[in-house]
Amino acid sequence: MSHTLEWSRAWSGRLTGIDASAPLPELSALVERLRRECAAGELPFLTMPYRARLEADMATVLPRVQRYKHMLVLGIGGSALGARAMQQAFAPGQDGPEHEGPSLWIADNVCADRFEALLTKLKAEESVVVCISKSGGTIETLAQYFLVRDWLRAALGEAWREHMVVVTDQQKGFLREEARQHDLLSLEVPDFLGGRYSALSAVGLLPAAFLGIDWQALLDGAWDVARPLVEDAANLGQHPSLALARWAKALEDHGYSQLIFFCYIPQWATYGPWFAQLWAESLGKQGKGTQPVPAIGVTDQHSVNQMFLDGQRDKGCIFLTNARPPQGRSFGQDLPEKWAWLRGKPFGSLLEAEGLGTRMALCKNDVPLVHVEMGDIGPRAAGSLMLLLEAATVFTGWLMGIDPLDQPAVELGKRLANARLGAPGYAAEEADLAAYLATPPQRQGF
Ligand code: PA5
Repeated sequence: MSHTLEWSRAWSGRLTGIDASAPLPELSALVERLRRECAAGELPFLTMPYRARLEADMATVLPRVQRYKHMLVLGIGGSALGARAMQQAFAPGQDGPEHEGPSLWIADNVCADRFEALLTKLKAEESVVVCISKSGGTIETLAQYFLVRDWLRAALGEAWREHMVVVTDQQKGFLREEARQHDLLSLEVPDFLGGRYSALSAVGLLPAAFLGIDWQALLDGAWDVARPLVEDAANLGQHPSLALARWAKALEDHGYSQLIFFCYIPQWATYGPWFAQLWAESLGKQGKGTQPVPAIGVTDQHSVNQMFLDGQRDKGCIFLTNARPPQGRSFGQDLPEKWAWLRGKPFGSLLEAEGLGTRMALCKNDVPLVHVEMGDIGPRAAGSLMLLLEAATVFTGWLMGIDPLDQPAVELGKRLANARLGAPGYAAEEADLAAYLATPPQRQGF
């Protein structure tokens, strides 16, 4: 069964009456832009020109990393979230009792305690470290790289190099220089493939492949969705990604400021943070954009759902389900009388019923909702969903008149942090910091 978008409740609330089948005035300009940017190689997440090279690189690198029991990934943002989503979706065993087989650890924060715990417990000789950074200059990732390099050297001497792989830009950046200088195994992040669009390159697929996940199927699934657009940009008008983009733009135009990503596929729960980063960093610009709100069904029915249902009427929802959720074991016939209606039913029936109940409740509360139903939840399906959401994000940006591929606002905080740490060349930021810190604090104890 294929995957579907179900639209019957999408144009509700303040979107009621909008004719989604009316011709989109900007369509021919968008088609032309798509054609141009594909031809110029500026949308590699869509055209995937890197696939052959990636396959060749994986053939060399995979056997070398799969010798190890542990993979420690150093990366942040788009360089970490895709790998985590795939790990949780397709190799969840690591979180279960008596796990055997490869283990993936993703260090995507600057938590000294957590980092220390990892380096204390991991054995260097059993571990390969994969340092992932498109720019090769992200301070959080490089800081971890420097510390791990010392850790490996202390344990292994010159052999440290065999335990380090870098995934970075083909030519530029500090990590690329490191790879050259120390003859490190390396994979490329292709030109124009920004972090949050890079999960289906070596960035996400090397960790996935290490875990034995069918990474080729992920790419195949992505291509299933990308191909109509790449083969003929004129297909854009009928493509589900543009339909999503059009709806997201309408939400924003009608005062909806939040977009819930309600995932009723528990195994895919960590696709929520992946989507949130993709959407927020791509579209939060010039005072525009909808705040992505990842939520997990059914867990968050007992958490944030009250606000979704009866808080401010400022939310739309993408509601994700699996058409054939696993059913698991069934309840016995001896359940207490009060629960007799559950007798003989499979555990999985709860997920279906609660998903339906929540979806209906959202609709009854006038939350415009697109239901994304996956025909299955294998890696190929995940690749299709990822590509759909990436394309929808880019097209939403185009409709909004912003650049969905940059992230200028986050630079300020980075520059200020660099200044705080004493990096040279940040005189203006140092002055700003001094003025900020000179403001007398108004502290209140608790
Ligand atoms: O999506 C993005 O571009 C960012 O979130 C980056 O992935 C993140 O800042 C890490 O950048 P880099 O991969 O250059 O280390």
